Amino acid sequence: MKRIFNFSAGPATLPVEVLRQAQEEMLDWQGRGVSVMEVSHRGKPFIKVAEQAEADLRELLGVPAEYAVLFLQGGATLQFALLPMNFSQPEQTVDYLVTGAWSKKAVSEAKACRKVNVVADPGEGHYTTVPDRAQWKPTSGAAYFHYCPNETIHGVEISTPPDFGDTPVIADMSSTLLSRPVDVRKFGVIYAGAQKNIGPSGLVVMIIRRDLMDRAPASLPNIFKYSAHAKEGSMLNTPATFSWYIAGLVFAWVRKQGGLARMADVNRRKAEKLYSAWPPSIGPG
Ligand SMILES: Cc1ncc(COP(=O)(O)O)c(C=O)c1O
Repeated sequence: MKRIFNFSAGPATLPVEVLRQAQEEMLDWQGRGVSVMEVSHRGKPFIKVAEQAEADLRELLGVPAEYAVLFLQGGATLQFALLPMNFSQPEQTVDYLVTGAWSKKAVSEAKACRKVNVVADPGEGHYTTVPDRAQWKPTSGAAYFHYCPNETIHGVEISTPPDFGDTPVIADMSSTLLSRPVDVRKFGVIYAGAQKNIGPSGLVVMIIRRDLMDRAPASLPNIFKYSAHAKEGSMLNTPATFSWYIAGLVFAWVRKQGGLARMADVNRRKAEKLYSAWPPSIGPG
């Protein structure tokens, strides 16, 4: 078997051990004569998978009890629209930092329902560095501050989470989560489309400070409300069971490797190797 490295946009590589386990279990999961996709999501065997996945993610990231962990669908892009609907009132302003394509898309979805203040945006062709903090123009009393710690397309990375006091920070960690340890308490909401570091596309993992979920206007349909999903253990409707199962296998694999500090070390060494092979003009300054 020849596995290749995938440096393209879109879904990333998964650990071979995880793929092999999924392959081995495809026709006969846990000796049940079915695959994990073919059993009830409300039956005990799948509930165990779901609970273990959450427990492993909580352990990896040190997620405190006052945060809910959700396994939802629609990828990160659906959350671009749902975040303002859930965490702000129609008359409130929401703050966004733009450092590349993904935070820009998040702004455009939020604008469909809320007043958006772009705290800083260097503009197309200039997504190469983080705008100087002194130039940021946050709104006093903003409902929240949104940013993308790692802009997957433009490559701009913000390693220290911004602090706006009582204003909750929401982070699109689609290409950050599981790559290193994260201090969850610095965030109101962390969300990540699964396809970079967690598993199949379509799944989105959300870590939400529970008190923030009360902010959703009552008029919001339940299926759009994070609080309704949390109340039903991410099973308000049929969840993406296979994706959830794969995410669980990946979390267990990361734990077996030594956790997120080990992942961070491996990633740093990979980056060093990559940049040392590139012309100096392309490597980090
Ligand atoms: C940082 C970031 N945010 C959002 C997205 C969009 O995710 P999705 O395609 O799951 O909606 C991506 C896609 O890879 C991404 O890298």
